[in-house]
Amino acid sequence: HDSQTKQVQEIAADYNHPPERYIRKQDEEYGNVSNTPVSSPMSEVVPVIDISLLTSSLSELHKLKSSVSSWGCFQAINHGIEGSFLEKVGEISKLFFRFSGEEKKKYLRAEDNIEGYGNDMVLSENQTLDWNDRLYLNVLPKQQRRLQFWPQNPSNFREVVDEYVSKIELINEFLLKALARSLNLEENSFLDQYGTSATMEARFNYYPPCPWPDKVFGVKPHADISALTFLLQDKEVEGLQVLKDGQWVGVPILPDALTINVGDQLEIMSNGIFKSPMHRVLINSKDARMTVALFCMPQTERDIGPVDGLVTDETPRLYKNVTFTVDSFFKYYQKGRRAIDSQTKQ
Ligand code: SIN
Ligand code: FE2
Repeated sequence: HDSQTKQVQEIAADYNHPPERYIRKQDEEYGNVSNTPVSSPMSEVVPVIDISLLTSSLSELHKLKSSVSSWGCFQAINHGIEGSFLEKVGEISKLFFRFSGEEKKKYLRAEDNIEGYGNDMVLSENQTLDWNDRLYLNVLPKQQRRLQFWPQNPSNFREVVDEYVSKIELINEFLLKALARSLNLEENSFLDQYGTSATMEARFNYYPPCPWPDKVFGVKPHADISALTFLLQDKEVEGLQVLKDGQWVGVPILPDALTINVGDQLEIMSNGIFKSPMHRVLINSKDARMTVALFCMPQTERDIGPVDGLVTDETPRLYKNVTFTVDSFFKYYQKGRRAIDSQTKQ
């Protein structure tokens, strides 16, 4: 067998121990993260933000600011997307992964390209592979969609994704404005760096159950390269953990909520006030887990950097300007290192 090119779903059925490439290394090898046992003390609960209050309530706006400055993430409720629609998004993803390998492989990605259906992309010899199959799509700008990778089954897949993208686009803009206001900046301060055609990428995740859950990672520790990431969690199976003050804390399932986290780009634009948190995914031995992540970011090839108003004598510039391309950031992600540590710290 060549475990490197197999989908994880096939591996779980065929092997009686995890192939070498999937066995997780010591946590220290993933960006010096301490090997703390999984725990979530009562005081440490991912904050919940009521999006509908952000224009009227200063205290909610303040809570947003403190959440993204300390945790780098929060659960969004009353965000304006109907629970029944979110259910549909989860459903089309579930249906896609339930199809036979043959059907899914119509959308198989090229070995050296991230877009399409497949397993973790191999970028280096000693990289630990994620216990995860995914369908990765560039969903914005619209004219760059490559429909050959967009499933035709289930038959409403494309339509539902298109609608979901439009809805998230609006929430993303609304939040970037609120985040700017929370720092007493002009509300377009972050959006001004986006250019005329922002980028959005979608990742439909399928984590097959694993007979050796302690030996693998669903997704190894990493920080996102996006500005903001919107995650629709599985309705029943947990697995996501975020690193908070040196501890891995589980992100609970909150019905109808979206889990939102800051990525490296917003950390850079906010001159380090907003934190791009390390996070990882653990695997369940019995149940498959499915999630849908949308990564929202500026137009590609544009320079991004700390917003003018945030660089002062007291708060000097912490990051260089960077020309954002997915490739330039992505190669660091796969090493479990943060792109911004290696590339853009002043
Ligand atoms: C990720 O962070 O890459 C995936 C998050 C998840 O599926 O929970
Ligand atoms: Fe992530």
